[in-house]
Amino acid sequence: MFPYKTSLKLSKCLKEPLYLQLANQFILLIREGKLLPGTKLVGSRTLADLLKVHRKTIVACYEELLLQGWVESIPKKGTFVNKNLPLIQKIALVDVTKTSKKQNSGFSFYENENLLKKNAEKREGVMYINDGTSDTRLTPTEEIARIYRKLASKKNIHTFLDYNSTKGNIKLREVLATYLNNSRGLKITKENILITRGSQMGMWLSSQLLLKENDIVVVGETNYSSADITFQYQKAQIKRASVDENGLVIDQIEKLCKKQPVKAVYVTSHHHHPTTVTLSAERRIHLLNLARKYSFAIIEDDYDYDFNYDHAPILPLASHDTCGNVIYIGSVCKTVAPVFRIGYLVASEDFVNEAAKLRGYIDRQGDALLELTFAEFIKSGDLDRHIRKLMKIYLQRRDLFCKLLKEELGGYFQFNIPKGGMAIWGYLNKEYSWYEVSKEARKYQLEIGEWQRYDLANKKHNAIRIGFASYNEEEIKLLVDKLKRTFKSIKKVPIKHF
Ligand SMILES: Cc1ncc(COP(=O)(O)O)c(C=O)c1O
Repeated sequence: MFPYKTSLKLSKCLKEPLYLQLANQFILLIREGKLLPGTKLVGSRTLADLLKVHRKTIVACYEELLLQGWVESIPKKGTFVNKNLPLIQKIALVDVTKTSKKQNSGFSFYENENLLKKNAEKREGVMYINDGTSDTRLTPTEEIARIYRKLASKKNIHTFLDYNSTKGNIKLREVLATYLNNSRGLKITKENILITRGSQMGMWLSSQLLLKENDIVVVGETNYSSADITFQYQKAQIKRASVDENGLVIDQIEKLCKKQPVKAVYVTSHHHHPTTVTLSAERRIHLLNLARKYSFAIIEDDYDYDFNYDHAPILPLASHDTCGNVIYIGSVCKTVAPVFRIGYLVASEDFVNEAAKLRGYIDRQGDALLELTFAEFIKSGDLDRHIRKLMKIYLQRRDLFCKLLKEELGGYFQFNIPKGGMAIWGYLNKEYSWYEVSKEARKYQLEIGEWQRYDLANKKHNAIRIGFASYNEEEIKLLVDKLKRTFKSIKKVPIKHF
């Protein structure tokens, strides 16, 4: 007889009912070819005796196997492993008590060499340089949870749990339309808004709708790398315009337009990513005029509109757009926290409608409850209050970070104090390279991060972006100290290009 007693193990400590534990183990034995098609299973009474369980458990298990088609029941004869099961290929037996990791797929798929590998899980005790993320310790989770709980206990909440419009929750779209009109001078209604899961989704959808192979998209010479990669994924041609202290050099875009059709221009007008400079008023008007004249789209990624320390926020290009050329993208991921995937794409109605259709194929349904929560959070003024609080804290952090960098590290690299945002842009002196620095920094438990992504055009500018907003005072001091020790312990070498 098959060694049922040693092959089947039941545990009353598990949540899974005994009959299901048993059924799943039978399935495994069949799949592994230990119980072959046509094999007669032992009677329910005998198996119940062997395993010291109630007979009803065995009956329920056999019924489950029958339902799933693994066994068949022949009247007056008994229960048999289904003889019509396709032949199971012999596989090397695995020890099911150990977790086996599948490393390679058993099929081919299309890999894209443009995609950057994201950092592995963070290690404890190591300090990570980021490119300007929020301090999630300041996220008002209690407040957000309170609104969420209150909404979730409403009687009619079930109506929000069903599939609904792929444009996103209507209340949030209404609240956002008012909020963006008041805070950013837009002139929109809810019909101009598509709710996305963060800015990245807005960028992805725009790229899909605007670009096909070889279409031209213009970006900064150094640029937000994920934007480059999103466009490259569409096989678009990336053309680069220089970035100086007034932002993207629009004259270069005009020259390009005269030569070739340009489909889109990607701008981070408020604080250029990564250099942090603001696009000047004159260049804003110039760019908008060009967009009108040459009918291209401006993808305006306003990722950190809210953080301004030395001047009032500058209204986005979208606020001056009268001809439907601007696709305006933003999110709460910088102000609240990256995990709250609430973003928006603002554009002409026809574009929003098409983007909403497309969105349905990568994300059929947004998180309506979270969207409602943020509608409330924004409408009540909580978001603005939170931003005002952050502004004060981040301003202190910017000042301390820049002061210490100048005092302690001025001999190693140069930077300008950013007028806003959450990061600085630092040029390393010629004798050093970020390659050497990041290697050496590991000795001091400091990870510099993906510094290569700032030079996708291979211009060897030797600069990187260093966020300050997410570190408190102690951490800023520690970061500067780690950088200082790193620089002190490396030999000056001629810059290496990697
Ligand atoms: C310039 C820029 N655009 C877009 C994003 C993506 O933001 P989100 O988390 O809203 O998708 C980031 C995130 O760091 C960013 O820096």
